Amino acid sequence: MLSSAILLLFLLPCACGENPAIQLILTNKGLQYGKHAGAGWVQDKLGSVTLPDLSGDFSLLIGSVHYTLSGISIEKCDFPEPSVEFFQNSTGLKASLSGLSVALTGEWTSSYGIIHDEGTFSMAVFNVDVLSVVELGRDADGRLSLSSLLCEAHVQDVQIQIRGGASWIIQLIVDHNRGRIRGDIESRICPQMEEAIVELERHLQAVNVSFDVGEALSLDLPLSLPPVVSASALSLGLKGEFYSIKTHKEPPFEAQPFTLPPQPGYMLSVGLSEFTLNSAFYGFFSSGLLQLLVDDGMIPPGSPVRLNTTSLGRYIPQLAQMFPDLLMNLQVYAREAPMFSLQPDAGKLSVEGTVKAFAIFPNGTQIPVFTLDSVSTSHGRTSLTFSTVMNLFSSSLTLSLVASEVGPFSVSKILSRNKNNNKTSFLVSRVHSRFLFAD
Ligand SMILES: *[C@@H]1O[C@H](CO)[C@@H](O)[C@H](O)[C@H]1NC(C)=O
Ligand SMILES: *[C@@H]1O[C@H](CO)[C@@H](O)[C@H](O)[C@H]1NC(C)=O
Ligand SMILES: *[C@@H]1O[C@H](CO)[C@@H](O)[C@H](O)[C@H]1NC(C)=O
Ligand SMILES: *[C@@H]1O[C@H](CO)[C@@H](O)[C@H](O)[C@H]1NC(C)=O
Ligand SMILES: *[C@@H]1O[C@H](CO)[C@@H](O)[C@H](O)[C@H]1NC(C)=O
Repeated sequence: MLSSAILLLFLLPCACGENPAIQLILTNKGLQYGKHAGAGWVQDKLGSVTLPDLSGDFSLLIGSVHYTLSGISIEKCDFPEPSVEFFQNSTGLKASLSGLSVALTGEWTSSYGIIHDEGTFSMAVFNVDVLSVVELGRDADGRLSLSSLLCEAHVQDVQIQIRGGASWIIQLIVDHNRGRIRGDIESRICPQMEEAIVELERHLQAVNVSFDVGEALSLDLPLSLPPVVSASALSLGLKGEFYSIKTHKEPPFEAQPFTLPPQPGYMLSVGLSEFTLNSAFYGFFSSGLLQLLVDDGMIPPGSPVRLNTTSLGRYIPQLAQMFPDLLMNLQVYAREAPMFSLQPDAGKLSVEGTVKAFAIFPNGTQIPVFTLDSVSTSHGRTSLTFSTVMNLFSSSLTLSLVASEVGPFSVSKILSRNKNNNKTSFLVSRVHSRFLFAD
């Protein structure tokens, strides 16, 4: 259900306008789905609402009668499906409801001089039409804002049945003033609608535009552009930038503009640019999280290769000679923030890291033995969902020796041996993925 409703795309840059890194498009299909769900919710709620009291004065030849209708509740409501559409003229939505009829019950009280009277009533309100235009905007903090631009209401007729007290006389007065009561009800509809929109707007103002994602990162999602409404869709451009909670540092790159192609078959399309992913990598990097200490305990127990000088001495004989049978550890860290870049139909992820190897003496002293730089490039298809995109990457890894306390040795030998031994290449890929998604 969700997969046919929401489409998630990775996008290529284009030269146009300002630069949100995440774009959302709500299509008419999505709007109609939302309207249907909303109308069902309203219908359910109507059974339990109590309407505001109505009161006023009926003037008679011999003075005036003050009346109050209170405890008004909905007995039955014939709630037609409203219509909602995108309204391009005012960057908003136009909603209309026609032919609503409601049966109400409640209590009445009346006073005429010192004479008080009371009883119950039932009322039928026929053929209510309401038209509302709501404008969408963006406030100074980047939240979606709503305001009522237009409201029109019309009530065709009301009928009131009075019971209790001196009903016959009140009924006469009420029947005589039916037009006024109809007008009174009609004039209250739009202020109520507007109040509901103001209430909704208050809720929108309380929505956070920044969220913590795990312990390390926060995601900023304010609107970076005002909403755009066309005849068939609503488009929102969000900032979509991750920050390190610790450093809150801006990355040294910017979001590039892109366009999200319309997908009318979906209710909602979400477009993500490479900037969002890269800001997350940068956030991890700038808070020092892209580093890992690997020791022998992390190597799978069945592995024939151990993290010690005897075992690695098979590839680097001087290591075993200069530091016989000592345990080792590796400090692995990113030299730069990993960068993800998009090419048509494919993505490329580059990670530049450094591996520093240490030998550990029995008294705990660690001394550096060599340092390798690694460059890993992964390619993958990206026209897929976020959760599967990483799995389709194929990696290439190059290592180069940048320092050695045990004299020169051939790094390519380690890599070529690893090709024939999938336990070690498992180790390399495991270190690599731990390193990318630092946990
Ligand atoms: C929208 O605006 C255009 C031009 O300003 C106008 O011709 C049209 O009648 C308007 N449509 C509605 C539904 O108000
Ligand atoms: C919104 O953010 C504030 C502070 O940043 C936080 O205290 C509050 O719990 C957040 N509210 C929600 C609904 O996430
Ligand atoms: C080093 O690894 C080898 C296996 O390659 C093992 O036999 C030896 O006991 C290990 N040495 C230490 C100090 O762990
Ligand atoms: C630990 O042992 C090594 C080799 O035996 C020695 O060179 C080093 O000075 C010792 N370190 C300490 C702090 O004792
Ligand atoms: C490990 O290597 C063996 C033979 O060299 C091969 O059959 C197996 O599929 C490999 N396993 C993985 C996970 O690559």
